[in-house]
Amino acid sequence: MEISQRFLQACRRESVDTTPVWFMRQAGRYMAEYRAIREKYSLIEICQHPEIAAEVTMQPVRALGVDAAILFADILLPVIPLGLGLEFAKGEGPVIGSPVRTLGDVRAMKSFDTESDLGYVMDAIRILRQALGGVPLIGFCGAPFTVASYIIEGGSSREFLKTKTMMYSVPEVFHALMEKLSVVLSDYLVAQIHAGAQAVQVFDSWVGTLSPADYETFVLPYSRKVLQAAEALNVPVIHFGTNTTTLLPLMKRAGGSVLGLDWRLPLDDGWKIIGYDRAVQGNLDPAILFSPLSEIKTRVHDILHRAEGRPGHIFNLGHGILQHTPVDNVKAVVDMVREFSAENVRA
Ligand code: CP3
Repeated sequence: MEISQRFLQACRRESVDTTPVWFMRQAGRYMAEYRAIREKYSLIEICQHPEIAAEVTMQPVRALGVDAAILFADILLPVIPLGLGLEFAKGEGPVIGSPVRTLGDVRAMKSFDTESDLGYVMDAIRILRQALGGVPLIGFCGAPFTVASYIIEGGSSREFLKTKTMMYSVPEVFHALMEKLSVVLSDYLVAQIHAGAQAVQVFDSWVGTLSPADYETFVLPYSRKVLQAAEALNVPVIHFGTNTTTLLPLMKRAGGSVLGLDWRLPLDDGWKIIGYDRAVQGNLDPAILFSPLSEIKTRVHDILHRAEGRPGHIFNLGHGILQHTPVDNVKAVVDMVREFSAENVRA
């Protein structure tokens, strides 16, 4: 296993030998090794068995030679000790047994102790720090808004209608839920860092459904709490969302040393909006990985051109790897990024 510090260096906007590359959802169903384990264990079982979670985390590191590992877990695991019930129904995605709709529901959410109730996550981190032999390990949690949206809707959603109805009709209930989640998620992220995560990512995957004004009122203060709790421990913090073109300045204000960029705006335009005092991560469209290698190469080179070899770019997709992605194409992207950037990064 190649050991490189270029991921952590780029997070700190230090110069690197080649642009670091890893992929959101780099472990998962597109890999045969993962599917073999999933035949025997459910997603939640994998997460709750630290040795298996660690093994699954390592699969893409071995197969692809990426510059960072991301802990195998799910942003919805804290829903279990909150007492709301979590299941992954076949073909339906996550299902929350007791969705939160009223102030009574918020108050009925259980308090929990991260080290004991989610201890299996921290155990996986401790195993991985040994097993990875120097490849940096990224921990993560969901941002309060994205987690709240699942808790309110009861599962995945397109329109976020129940979430927005709560926001606009009973804002005090929404704020109470976000306050509670910001505390729980801060604790969870801090525990991961103490267990050995060398960087963390906060996934606000669905925040792009909001206007800037609503982001500022309903999301920013709570995301800031979580991001700042991690930043206080001096590890790189990646603040990620999709559909965030109009939200980037506010997301920067909320926090994070690295801002995620999806493919809906060119990397250079996004970086300019954010400012060069932050690193950026992104921004290949995951769908490009289904194209011929020549097309993939054009798109990879375009992104690297736009980064101009400036310190502080971490190559990634704009969102997670899709289910039927050809593994060889993912590996090819790693090679393309290394080859091209070796010649083009600024000294
Ligand atoms: O990146 C990684 O390799 C680490 C693992 C990881 C998973 N979930 C495992 C997983 C990470 C970082 C997540 C984060 C996550 N989970 C997010 C934020 C990132 C994003 O994609 O926006 C969200 C929104 C979730 C919630 C979630 N988990 C959904 C909506 C689903 C179902 C979707 C589907 O593809 O069926 C999951 C299930 C899930 N979490 C899988 C994996 C690998 C699916 C595979 C399986 O069932 O084995």
